[in-house]
Amino acid sequence: MTLVRICGVDDVPEGEVRRFELDHRPYAVVNLGEEGFRVVDAICSHAHYFLDEGDVDADFETVECPKHGSTFDLNTGRPRTLPATQPVDVFPVKVENSDVMIEVAEG
Ligand code: FES
Repeated sequence: MTLVRICGVDDVPEGEVRRFELDHRPYAVVNLGEEGFRVVDAICSHAHYFLDEGDVDADFETVECPKHGSTFDLNTGRPRTLPATQPVDVFPVKVENSDVMIEVAEG
């Protein structure tokens, strides 16, 4: 695994989600304020739609897909509500100084 910078801490307002790409793969970066950052696949597991265009629930630590309304747990990637049944990938996050770093597979 390699630690790579995905964005700066100031690039994502608290309680919101933004999309960033690394090697042509889109990631959804969520700022949960005091609970830190979470990073998941930006593409919904149900159909090809961007999760970062949905709403974050900072209390439940979920993001809601804007297309059909599935909510995904930001810690496990598992859907909490239908219609999605498959999880999205989650990535370990580390904040170093003002950078949000994630662990990704090498190569
Ligand atoms: S595309 Fe996300 S729930 Fe259908």
